[in-house]
Amino acid sequence: MRQNVLNRRQWLARVGAGLGASYGRTRAQSDEATSSTLVGGWLEPFVDPLPVPRVLQPRFKRSGVEHYQLVLGEFRQKLHRDLPPTIVWGFNGVSPGPTIEAKRDCSVVVDWVNRLPLRHRLLVDHSLDGAGTDVPEVRTTIHLHGGRNRQEDDGYPDTWITPGHQQTTHYRNHQPAATLWYHDHSMAITRLNAAMGLAGTYILRDPAEETLGLPSGAFDVPLVLQDRVLDARGQLVYAVGANQRSVWMPEFLGSHILVNGRVAPYFNVHPAAYRFRLVNASNARVFQLALDPGQEFVHIGTDNALLSDLVSAEELLLSPGERLDVLIDFRGRQGRRINLINFAPAPYPSGSGLVPPSVLQFRVGSAYEVTPPRNDYPSRLGSLPPLSTFRSTRTRQLTMVEAMSNGHESHRMLLNGARFMDPATEIAKRGTVETWELVNLTADAHPIHLHAVHFRILGRQRFDVRHNLLTSELKLIGNNISPAAEERGWKDTVLCPPGQVTRIVVPFDGEPGRFVWHCHILEHEDNEMMRPLIIEG
Ligand code: C2O
Ligand code: CU
Ligand code: CU
Repeated sequence: MRQNVLNRRQWLARVGAGLGASYGRTRAQSDEATSSTLVGGWLEPFVDPLPVPRVLQPRFKRSGVEHYQLVLGEFRQKLHRDLPPTIVWGFNGVSPGPTIEAKRDCSVVVDWVNRLPLRHRLLVDHSLDGAGTDVPEVRTTIHLHGGRNRQEDDGYPDTWITPGHQQTTHYRNHQPAATLWYHDHSMAITRLNAAMGLAGTYILRDPAEETLGLPSGAFDVPLVLQDRVLDARGQLVYAVGANQRSVWMPEFLGSHILVNGRVAPYFNVHPAAYRFRLVNASNARVFQLALDPGQEFVHIGTDNALLSDLVSAEELLLSPGERLDVLIDFRGRQGRRINLINFAPAPYPSGSGLVPPSVLQFRVGSAYEVTPPRNDYPSRLGSLPPLSTFRSTRTRQLTMVEAMSNGHESHRMLLNGARFMDPATEIAKRGTVETWELVNLTADAHPIHLHAVHFRILGRQRFDVRHNLLTSELKLIGNNISPAAEERGWKDTVLCPPGQVTRIVVPFDGEPGRFVWHCHILEHEDNEMMRPLIIEG
């Protein structure tokens, strides 16, 4: 069971009756000190069509390798009907960038050409390690999240380039079909580059998957979720509020949800089954999603591969960095409007910010205009090795802490008490399997992400936090809580709830090299909650 702080029914009760017509009008507000002030006011949801990112065509193909080019630039993009175009950063003139579609075991080369301006649009906090006044303000290094690549292709945080330069990466795609995504990973400014829009999807396909008869083509749609604060002129805001002296904030929580770069859009669908690839590309927002009127999601895949079986669920929990592959069946729903709503508290799970609920509206058409995909779901999907087959030879206990020494100025988020530049401690031998116990001593949940490897979740267990803070001993409470059915596949990001130890089993079977592991709340990642991960060959 996942940390369900509030289920959809409780949420509906809290927000009040007559929700269907009124929740879109709930004025976005949050009493969290950490959340930004809403500047632009209320925007009517579901008035813009959902953009579906176009699939990028390779520039050429040489000896079986497809070569792509993505140009990072600044441009204006319409985010909502009632707003003037917003200055954003993206790829080839769009944010999120075009989708790269790759095939399993077929190599891809991408040239990431940085044509961004020299000054950042958002305020850089020079007190953060790695973002001093001695380094250029605008830097980028693109990372393929979920990809298992060589270290030189992984976008290590300090291998950034500046405007006018180009980063070339080689992706071999020796891994199962899944939804990966690309985004900036620059040292200490990742949160700002992400907030400007530097992200996109990378869909890895496998011919074997095509035999399953899952919805495909126009029925297979990536949904990139991001939250933003917009001012009255429609421009992006990233600031603490009135007091701008301290630029870093613990979590950036936007007042509007963007899906594929549009504020709460609508999507015209056929009365057919669809496959949606949800990507949480927000800086810090965890989504807890449901359909209104109620209807189930059918989970088919986690971050890095298909599940073994289909899993039906009423709710969907998606933390920053995570992906979920789901089917939604609109058969028999002709003429209906079905809303995808978010009811996660922010910060998750105990914050009191419940907004914004409007994410996306599905408008189901009355007839097929195109051939519908096969109507039946496959009964089995991928194959998953049972957890009992993993022979772990080492267990590491790793803590998450919030360290505040000199008041707000030196507020740091740490993994195992260490900063990013401290000597590496997570050094694993290639070919071995380790168990990691992620001990969360803070009040919020942290989505922990490992580069270069994929892992499985063993479970979560509560522990005595006070006792741990005093003695550093792990005094466990109760039993191991198994991961939710939809979490039982291959993962690269796992949500670690407060007061719990989250256990994962990690086979280090990829490339040797120097990588990173970190919290995917980008404000945390930029402020020391990131550590080297070394795989010795
Ligand atoms: Cu999605 Cu290290 O990143
Ligand atoms: Cu990653
Ligand atoms: Cu964190």
